Amino acid sequence: MAQTPTAKYRKDYQTPSHSISEIDLTFDLYDQATTVTAISTVKQLGEQNALVLDGESIELKSLKVNGTDWANYTLLDSKLEIKDLPEQFELSIETLVNPEANTALEGLYKSGGAFCTQCEAEGFRRITYYLDRPDVLAKYTTKVIADKQQYPYLLSNGNRVADGDLTDGRHWVQWQDPHPKPAYLFALVAGDFDVLRDQYKTQSGRDVELEIFVDKGNLDRANHAMVSLINSMKWDEERFGLEYDLDIYMIVAVDFFNMGAMENKGLNVFNSKYVLANEQTATDTDYLGIEAVIGHEYFHNWTGNRVTCRDWFQLSLKEGLTVFRDQEFSSDLGSRAVNRINNVRIIRGPQFAEDASPMSHPIRPEKVIEMNNFYTLTVYEKGSEVIRMMHTLLGEEGFQKGMKLYFERHDGTAATCEDFVSAMEDASGVDLAQFRLWYSQSGTPTLSVSSQYDSEANTYTLKVSQHTEATQDQSEKQALHIPFDVELYDSKGQVIALQSNGQQLDNVLNVTQSEQTFIFENVQEKPVPSMLREFSAPVVLDYGYSDDELIFLMVHAKNEFARWDAGQMLLAKYIKSNVSRVQNGESIELAESVIDAFRGVLLSESLEPAFIAEMMALSSHNEVSGWYKQVDVDSIAMVLKTIKVNIAEALEDELKAVYNHHAQESYTIEHAAIGKRALRNICLSYLAFTSEGNQYAQAQYQKANNMTDTIAAMNAANSAKLPCRSTLMDDYSEKWKHDGLVMDKWFALQGTNPADDVLSIIKDTMNHEAFSLKNPNRTRSLIGAFLNMNPVQFHAKSGAGYQFAGEILRELNSSNPQVASRLIDPLLKFRKYDDERQSLIKKELESLQSLDNLAKDLFEKVNKALES
Ligand code: TRP
Ligand code: ZN
Repeated sequence: MAQTPTAKYRKDYQTPSHSISEIDLTFDLYDQATTVTAISTVKQLGEQNALVLDGESIELKSLKVNGTDWANYTLLDSKLEIKDLPEQFELSIETLVNPEANTALEGLYKSGGAFCTQCEAEGFRRITYYLDRPDVLAKYTTKVIADKQQYPYLLSNGNRVADGDLTDGRHWVQWQDPHPKPAYLFALVAGDFDVLRDQYKTQSGRDVELEIFVDKGNLDRANHAMVSLINSMKWDEERFGLEYDLDIYMIVAVDFFNMGAMENKGLNVFNSKYVLANEQTATDTDYLGIEAVIGHEYFHNWTGNRVTCRDWFQLSLKEGLTVFRDQEFSSDLGSRAVNRINNVRIIRGPQFAEDASPMSHPIRPEKVIEMNNFYTLTVYEKGSEVIRMMHTLLGEEGFQKGMKLYFERHDGTAATCEDFVSAMEDASGVDLAQFRLWYSQSGTPTLSVSSQYDSEANTYTLKVSQHTEATQDQSEKQALHIPFDVELYDSKGQVIALQSNGQQLDNVLNVTQSEQTFIFENVQEKPVPSMLREFSAPVVLDYGYSDDELIFLMVHAKNEFARWDAGQMLLAKYIKSNVSRVQNGESIELAESVIDAFRGVLLSESLEPAFIAEMMALSSHNEVSGWYKQVDVDSIAMVLKTIKVNIAEALEDELKAVYNHHAQESYTIEHAAIGKRALRNICLSYLAFTSEGNQYAQAQYQKANNMTDTIAAMNAANSAKLPCRSTLMDDYSEKWKHDGLVMDKWFALQGTNPADDVLSIIKDTMNHEAFSLKNPNRTRSLIGAFLNMNPVQFHAKSGAGYQFAGEILRELNSSNPQVASRLIDPLLKFRKYDDERQSLIKKELESLQSLDNLAKDLFEKVNKALES
């Protein structure tokens, strides 16, 4: 390390020393030397008159104050300190940047043939020296100059106000954004594209031009993104009363992008993965992902852009809320139960794991070294659960009142999480004092529940205790306000009304103490409780359900989510007990009643196919690993596979019948059609493990008229190691080798190959013509899949998997630290493995720690891990 990176603390927040009301930017675009001129209107706010600007990896060419050269400045590592300034002035800064050399994909860079920018969180400082913090809001004017033939489209935020041609084959366009914004929402794109255009008329009758820019030749893959955008605009008007506020909304799809997409004002930049789709190239999951991400970025226009964050510790203010909004959007348009199930899987799997890891942090972190490390499942997904709990406590009406007040108070400003909670509280009258702890406390609470039925008094008692284990970042934990949604059933499956002290109770109980007792009266028989319905809080529920109770709930619970959850709890019991059995050298057992219960689900004629598919899906290896302090990788894999085989063999006839019954002639992306494919393909995933698996997978691959079925066939062949695997893989690669995005699915299958020699296969695959470590999507597909979704091989006792991860991480540390830092996550959890594996992983972490060019991103994570 050249210099040890320093941490920033939330408690140290200070208001900015200066305001910048306007900034006028000029970009003279060249591949290796782009000149950026920034003219800002600056005003001193406090006492001190030095102005300290952020800047990184850029060259300062000139500095002027009120039009004359200004020599009184100091240039430090990543700061520019300008002294003896007047109270108000015009600041002109000229910088030189090298977009072509920018492999970190932050700031101004080249993606394929196009120039583009990524400024969140702190990328604008790689363009010019600036107050690069979200509470400095300015009005932007941007002039883009570039070669006309190579870059016919020159785009930036806001409205196009002027353009012209220059003599040397270059041209220019000027943009003006009327809405003051922080630097992280700035964007510029220059390139040659195909454009899909449409229009939208807002509720109040204003016309908005919609434009989606894609690489030439990809126009036939942009339709779903456009439909999703229009649906988003409509939904936000109907559900939240929020309308779009510019005359134009542009989306550009780029191939080189570190994350999913970016909500730059009026000019979203998207990872092409979340734009491009047609039935031949994209799966149903891809289609739903596009809908969700297009929605997410659009919804940011109000929750993020109109009201932005005061500082980056408040990131969940915009991200948790916007994830909540995109989840509601997907649920209103599709199946609420299926959406909820998939969101809960993410919380219970990777989010709980993150919260138990050395990276554990509250949804509003207290301490940050590299902000890019905090775009996490905790800030986004747990953040959304925290918003959802408020929605549960306030109800839709109260919540919408809160949103209205939030915008009344904070529109056009940079706000805090506290501001949001206060608005919710003030608008609804619901006391959220204790609830606020969700913002400052990390870790996952466990709710332990015991029950007692008194047949003489006809009372039913639930004793609830909550406990949050210490996390690496925080040793003391307090009792949280947990909304606990409960329903009781009698033996016929009828709901028993909740009564206490002669009064009707709401289903949502307020758990606020470390131990609490709820007594329900007028309960005529011993009930079966359905608890934590809809996953009403991001906690672990610990209750000693019997098999019979869970099977009862799988059939009788009124709410679909609760049925699914009962099925999951039933399977979890068997997974846990069988892991112990394997460890004791005993055989794996699955009760006949469990098989029968899943047979009932599979053959149900009242349940939606999409929901049956979710019911039939087993927990992932990662989720199961999260249940243990010490993970036994191989026993868990063995149990999950054996349960899969047992179910497949016991239900073979039923699986075949359902598989055949749901065949569809043609492809549509309607939700019912998606559901049928999902059910059929989960059947295939079981059938793959029967004697006819190879025929089924091969036949499906050959007959498939859409990518969903193609990939499902390949997946089945891959996970069951079917003989047809290599033929299918070769055929696919031959067909798609020129299309990196489509090849990503193939790369992921190479990464998750369960074969013992997978590592040498992966190394060969890195030479595939479509592969490049410079492209984050390719890297995540091949390498990310191996590290995250191939636990048995990645954790091979030899340590070869760890060594390989170390090599890749050292390379990415130099080229793209942000991608490196996401990839390293599985290594951070090394304390969860046996001593031998621990020391092998530790060796790789230490080798990274000793790098003399270790980036802040990895520095922060590696050090946290080694401190654990
Ligand atoms: N704000 C973006 C979103 O949630 C996230 C994002 C996109 C991002 N690109 C990034 C965050 C680069 C950090 C760095 O939609
Ligand atoms: Zn977001």
